[in-house]
Amino acid sequence: MQVPEKDIETQKAIARSIREIVVSRASPSYAYVDTYGCQQNESDSEKLRGMLVGMGYNITYDEFEADVAVINTCAIRENAENRVLGNVGALVHAKAAKRSLIIVFCGCLAGVPETVEKVRGSYQHVDLVFPPNALWRFPELLYAAMLRGTYAYFADGVKEDGAPQPEIPHGSTLKRIFVTESVEGAIIEGIPSHRDMKIRAWLPVMYGCDNYCSYCIVPYVRGRERSRAPDAIVDEARVIVSAGYKDITMLGQNVNSYRDGASGRDSFAALIRRVNDINGEFLIRFMTSHPKDASDGLFRAMSECDKAARHIHLPFQAGSDRVLSLMNRGYTQAEYLERVAAARSFMPEIALTSDAIVGFPGETESDFEETLRLVEKAQFDSLFIFIYSGRPGTPAARLEDATTREEKQARFDRLNDLQNSISKAKHAQFVGKKTRVLVDTQSRDARYPLKARTNGGRLVHLLGEADLLGSFVEARITHCNSWSLFGEVW
Ligand code: 5AD
Ligand code: SF4
Repeated sequence: MQVPEKDIETQKAIARSIREIVVSRASPSYAYVDTYGCQQNESDSEKLRGMLVGMGYNITYDEFEADVAVINTCAIRENAENRVLGNVGALVHAKAAKRSLIIVFCGCLAGVPETVEKVRGSYQHVDLVFPPNALWRFPELLYAAMLRGTYAYFADGVKEDGAPQPEIPHGSTLKRIFVTESVEGAIIEGIPSHRDMKIRAWLPVMYGCDNYCSYCIVPYVRGRERSRAPDAIVDEARVIVSAGYKDITMLGQNVNSYRDGASGRDSFAALIRRVNDINGEFLIRFMTSHPKDASDGLFRAMSECDKAARHIHLPFQAGSDRVLSLMNRGYTQAEYLERVAAARSFMPEIALTSDAIVGFPGETESDFEETLRLVEKAQFDSLFIFIYSGRPGTPAARLEDATTREEKQARFDRLNDLQNSISKAKHAQFVGKKTRVLVDTQSRDARYPLKARTNGGRLVHLLGEADLLGSFVEARITHCNSWSLFGEVW
């Protein structure tokens, strides 16, 4: 469902009212946006910043300077949650220093009922809580939070200039704002993005996920799969390219199941072809792919598009067919490896990266050895390894889990050692060769002042001048370690 245009217009009108208030203040107002989690969240934060800038705020990276502090949270694993809650707790000091500060808790954790209850009870300095699917209503919600602050101000009766601003009374009848939104979600067009970087841009193509992997909280917080219209995506890609961005990442929890209503299973492949046809020098990347949807049609389109990066991130999660089935992944180890072989048959030079989970409930030593075997066979360029974390409301959280934390850590270390040796060997193949890279970051390391990425997404620490930022250059690779390459501009 697309959010009706008139509802978006209402939000824009509220945003204009906020702008009038904010710009009429004696001194400039600042907004702080802190982001956790995946690229989808980064992209959502760009939209939050876009809306905040439209409402007259300046962006700050210092929470003590902020008038509005937004924490865009991630729910994927318990350690992500703990980190977020620790930092939200610490915001109490910023609020003590500036009592008019509005604290906003949004993103995936704001869609987890257990966490929302924690925030309600133990984080009373948080003013506004809303889940990802309510993002487009941010102006309206912020306005309500501002009004509440104003009422609290008058309720306390402290109005004199220079007097300390009143705290919102504990247990006051002025309610904090907690939004619950239908998890079905909607497609929202027309929210401006305030993009962080000058070089890389996120381009959401679809939202939500229908896969229901048994360990994963995403479908419960981001809702059902829904795809943007292809014309809207291509138009946005054109704007991004003409603004000078060089690296476009098309985003979706499961991009390959993008559907445009006309091209069926190959819709995403067709979309890549259309973005590839835009004039300009740039790279097309996409995240994340599910093996069941990584079709030959997709690989063919990538191989025929000169701007498509030769890289695919294809999470396998586990090597044991028994565990894959418990995870509800929909493929076996053999089927996964067949997809890897297909990708390489279309693009022999393709960089392949993946995600793995160790210590899924009931994973035995022999299940884990299947994961090692898969990694040995697939020869990934890099691998993100996670220790299983039970998430509330997911089917896997109800499974018996007898493996100790120490055993899980030991498996993590073994898998990590294996991947490091593979990555190192892969990196060694680059040494002494030339490769085209995009210079994307200035580094604090004086020995290697630039960071760049190869077409396959490998990090290169580069010797060179800052004026190369944002350009494609030929680099000669001089040496490497397990994590990255080192080189000089050729
Ligand atoms: N525990 C551990 N890792 C998880 N991931 C997703 N859910 C969990 C969980 N409950 C990992 C998967 C996914 C990546 C983004 O995070 O590997 O691909
Ligand atoms: Fe975290 Fe998943 Fe939400 Fe991304 S979609 S922020 S990884 S929980």
